[in-house]
Amino acid sequence: MSSGIISAAYIAASILFILSLGGLSNQESARRGNLFGIAGMTLAIGATLFTGLPLSYALVLGVVAIGGACGGLVAARVEMTAMPQLVALLHSFVGLAAVLVGFASYLEPTTHFVGAEKTVHDIEIFLGILIGAVTFTGSIAAFGKLQGILTSRPVLMPARHLINLAIGLVCVWLGYVFVGADSISAGSWPLLIMTALAFAFGVHMVLAIGGADMPVVISMLNSYSGWAAAATGFMLANDLLIVTGALVGSSGAILSYIMCRAMNRRFVSVILGGFGTTSVSKGTSEAQGDVIPVSAGETAQLLSTASSVVVVPGYGMAVAHAQHPVSELVSSLKQRGIQTRFAIHPVAGRMPGHMNVLLAEAKVPYDSVLEMDEINPDFPDTDVVLVIGANDIVNPAAQEDPDSPIAGMPVLEVWKAQTTIILKRSMATGYAGVDNPLFYRENTRMLFGDAKDSISQVLAAL
Ligand code: TAP
Repeated sequence: MSSGIISAAYIAASILFILSLGGLSNQESARRGNLFGIAGMTLAIGATLFTGLPLSYALVLGVVAIGGACGGLVAARVEMTAMPQLVALLHSFVGLAAVLVGFASYLEPTTHFVGAEKTVHDIEIFLGILIGAVTFTGSIAAFGKLQGILTSRPVLMPARHLINLAIGLVCVWLGYVFVGADSISAGSWPLLIMTALAFAFGVHMVLAIGGADMPVVISMLNSYSGWAAAATGFMLANDLLIVTGALVGSSGAILSYIMCRAMNRRFVSVILGGFGTTSVSKGTSEAQGDVIPVSAGETAQLLSTASSVVVVPGYGMAVAHAQHPVSELVSSLKQRGIQTRFAIHPVAGRMPGHMNVLLAEAKVPYDSVLEMDEINPDFPDTDVVLVIGANDIVNPAAQEDPDSPIAGMPVLEVWKAQTTIILKRSMATGYAGVDNPLFYRENTRMLFGDAKDSISQVLAAL
């Protein structure tokens, strides 16, 4: 196929990716955004197959069929609650691919560069492997934390900032040696040592981060995976991969920035991997006292006499698959003339937009779903707040306890409502592992049990 047609296909694919990102930024256009993305990727893969590379079509199609089948199977089976882990695992594949392509490109160069071109190509390889290796092990560590295999609490090594600095400096020196090497064997050892150090750094960086800060880590690794792909594009001299990688890298960076603002963290600290770890204590606010349990019947009574209700969904709603009965409950309250709205915290659940996806699935109208900044001023005028499987995002310790690991994180101020009813199964903490003094407040009621069962009972009692 002529290079003109391939370039045109690449430009069309890039435009489709941009349209896809545009679509994904809004719930109503997200489905269309996904379709643009699928079309762009199909076009990109198709055009790449015709670039005249010396490849075996049978091998490529065989590998695509196996990979596609595995991906399709996993995506079809994955629970919504396990999506963040899956995304972390997929990021790790991008990182590993960048490492492997980097080594292949170094050990068996298709083009022999000399002079300045060789220097540039060597830098591309070095950076590509570096970013890829950090992304690979960082994403595996993030997978472990999200899956519960590794602790969600920060694991702090003594002098960790010094260790990070030393790794950074040694990598710069190794890069200098690598670029100056005049043979493959002379360049291989700095490359191998740097890869091992980058692997170690990826794990070290993510392990040091506390549970409540994981949203930022996820979007940051998303960004890293984009830059790893862009670096691979440079190594392979593939313009589309550079553009696509840069799109993912920069949109991931913007998402990281948004997450940082939501968590009240500094962006630079996040990029350096050392944030959210100044305190590993549970905080000083003693979450003690008696809790006031409430029954489903009493909850129904409180709801039916309210004139305004706010529902705060959290990770537990996803675990319980309670979104459909919750949607039914909200419709029933609205039919009674009770103003009922949803309040969404930016890091509710385990991935960006987690609650929005669940509510969209349950056909909740978008106009009754409000962001934290929109709803927070309304809590003092709210009669009843239903907190469904949420914990960290409604923890007043974030505002009241400067020693808390979540201090400074903006939260939904549900305690300002007349009555707050919390649906959860036990007194267990949330993902950040921090006690919640909200449970012991005078105007708080605890409706213990699985959220789906509890909501179904409330619906029946209504
Ligand atoms: P969490 O603080 O994790 O609290 C969830 C609560 O749901 C738990 O306290 C749990 O208590 C309850 N629960 C679990 N299963 C339940 C069920 N079947 N029925 C009823 N309740 C159930 O969730 P959140 O408030 O949504 O906060 C999110 C946390 O995850 C934040 O710390 C955030 O930083 C972190 N995080 C977020 C993301 C993104 S991007 N959103 C990514 C990684 C981490 P019981 O066990 O007592 O029922």
